[in-house]
Amino acid sequence: MFRIVEKEWLADNICRMSVEAPRLAKAAKPGQFLIVRDNERGERVPLTICDYDPQAGTVDIVIQTIGASTKEMCSYNVGDGFADVVGPLGVPSEFISKSAEELKGRRYLFIAGGVGTAPVYPQVKWLKAHGASVDVIMGAKNVSLIILEDRMKALCDNLYVCTDDGSAGFKGMVTAQAEELLTGGHAYDEAVAIGPMIMMKFVALTLKKYSLPLTVSLNTLMVDGTGMCGACRVTVGGKTRFACVEGPEFDGYVVDYDEAMRRQGMYRPQEIEEDHKCHLGLGK
Ligand code: NAD
Ligand code: FES
Repeated sequence: MFRIVEKEWLADNICRMSVEAPRLAKAAKPGQFLIVRDNERGERVPLTICDYDPQAGTVDIVIQTIGASTKEMCSYNVGDGFADVVGPLGVPSEFISKSAEELKGRRYLFIAGGVGTAPVYPQVKWLKAHGASVDVIMGAKNVSLIILEDRMKALCDNLYVCTDDGSAGFKGMVTAQAEELLTGGHAYDEAVAIGPMIMMKFVALTLKKYSLPLTVSLNTLMVDGTGMCGACRVTVGGKTRFACVEGPEFDGYVVDYDEAMRRQGMYRPQEIEEDHKCHLGLGK
């Protein structure tokens, strides 16, 4: 059993949990993810790693309650435990293979959308610890959905918060804030975008004209997470790739986002039905 040692609500439907998983905490690297099963009959839910502490032997996960399984997970409290926490899975971010000389002073722009802020955090932490300069744009629908703002502000060089409705920071989407920075004389060597698929698609369309290398992290459907089932199949540069073992990070300019979004929505009718059953007390 993987015991929960901390639980914090970051927003109405977004929860952070710190979970005891010593081997995973020692091995985790920025860019990787894990799969959680709350009980023996539970669904396998892929989650991004928000932080890890090898000394304490804990990993932090951030869960948005979007369906029956994530709601069930968020009902767990400190002292409870998950049946399985498997990971770290996927390929770590490419920048961790760069030397200290290469990273020193290299300018990164991170674009985080909603819950996508969680996986951005360990990447920014790593880059700052290795001498890079990091600006972060963090977007949310409104002020109540902004997460990890103080922690991110304490880490990065400049934090640009934006909300769709203007209830905090810049009024507009992350793409508008990025344009403002790039046309306003801010220069970067690389960009990383993590958030909803539609956001990553439009970030790619926006940044392309600035010739800024872009990495995105694809949150596809996943089942086994080990390259066997094909659930996470995406097309990148015209080739079939499995996000769980070859990703989740890819060159943002060559991802077929429309196909990825279609595949993401494949089981939505079943998810809605399952959610409805749980609402009526007929679920698992
Ligand atoms: P959201 O829908 O509130 O969007 C967050 C921000 O993204 C918006 O405020 C806006 O600035 C930007 N955005 C959205 N649509 C855009 C568009 N068309 N053009 C430009 N910018 C746009 O975010 P949410 O509800 O927190 O999103 C949750 C989604 O993020 C889920 O689908 C979840 O699976 C995904 N997610 C992805 C990852 C990943 O690794 N890619 C990690 C965690 C969560
Ligand atoms: Fe099954 Fe990737 S999740 S192959």
